[in-house]
Amino acid sequence: LQQQLLSSIEAADTLDALETVRVAALGKQGSVSALLKSLGGMTPEQRQSEGPRINGLRESVTAAITSRKAKLESAALEAKLAAERIDMTLPADAAPKGSVHPVSQVMDELAEIFADMGFAVATGPEIESEWYNFDALNIPPTHPARAMHDTFYFPEEAEGGGHMLLRTHTSPVQIRTMTQGNTPIRIIAPGRVYRSDSDATHTPMFHQVEGLVIDRGIHMGHLKWTLETFLKAYFERDDIVLRLRPSYFPFTEPSAEVDVGYAQEKGRRVVGGSGDEPGHAWMELLGSGMVHPKVIANCGLDPDEWQGFAFGVGVDRLAMLKYGMDDLRAFFDGDLRWLAHYGFNA
Ligand code: PHE
Repeated sequence: LQQQLLSSIEAADTLDALETVRVAALGKQGSVSALLKSLGGMTPEQRQSEGPRINGLRESVTAAITSRKAKLESAALEAKLAAERIDMTLPADAAPKGSVHPVSQVMDELAEIFADMGFAVATGPEIESEWYNFDALNIPPTHPARAMHDTFYFPEEAEGGGHMLLRTHTSPVQIRTMTQGNTPIRIIAPGRVYRSDSDATHTPMFHQVEGLVIDRGIHMGHLKWTLETFLKAYFERDDIVLRLRPSYFPFTEPSAEVDVGYAQEKGRRVVGGSGDEPGHAWMELLGSGMVHPKVIANCGLDPDEWQGFAFGVGVDRLAMLKYGMDDLRAFFDGDLRWLAHYGFNA
């Protein structure tokens, strides 16, 4: 029996096979266990001669299983290590590199340009109340100007009346900043805004930068200088010519639409020069004006002491002009080939 057991232990070539052999010998119903049990029915003399033999058998089988088991385990480990070996000399897969989105990049640039002029960056929530987005800006519920903003409303009632909404412009940040009362104020407020509108030149979400200056003795000249200085820095050229056209916004008085001169070159608009020069034209760029005294008063400031100007400009439009992009919707497709085409994944 010993010979037979030891050779089947040696023959077991997997841990499972070895376990089968072990159960057949040392398990409850095993052959060695049966011999051990038989000792109970023997005479003392038989037991004296058979006992050591049977126990010796059990010990040698146990020892053989233990050593075979160790061998099989180390072989299994070797095989696993060999299978999992990594070739460190193989070249790595080229992972596409990300980059800052043109819109984010332009917002960063604007923050830098305005920081040089002493402006801080202010922010406000994208989910606003009707008070901040409309009422405080002198756009009461029945005002026709409200119809111009195709607003996304939430069912939730808002503090100060009306409902919560997705802000339709960055102008509510004017209100939030003035209400804090830390005059004088020089801020820009870049961020996302929402209108229910979608075609090649409108997306339901787009980006604006609001500008606000509140101080003593501020006038339209400060507004024009600020916009000129900003646009010269942004487009990196000195021949930026602006045209201020009378316009209407409920929160500014007077209000001005600002146009910039440009030329059509190789199918794209290149900003620079007067729109009245031959080969040039004017393009509407942003809305602006002197902050309405009612708006200043709505924020708890005295309009006889504090005056200021504000402007709002589309960031996506600014990015398109600078990089010669022609479809606004591509900004929000997340197509890496489009970004690469405009040099944004270097
Ligand atoms: N909020 C206006 C818009 O979205 C732009 C604007 C801002 C006009 C500030 C005047 C002053 O159209």
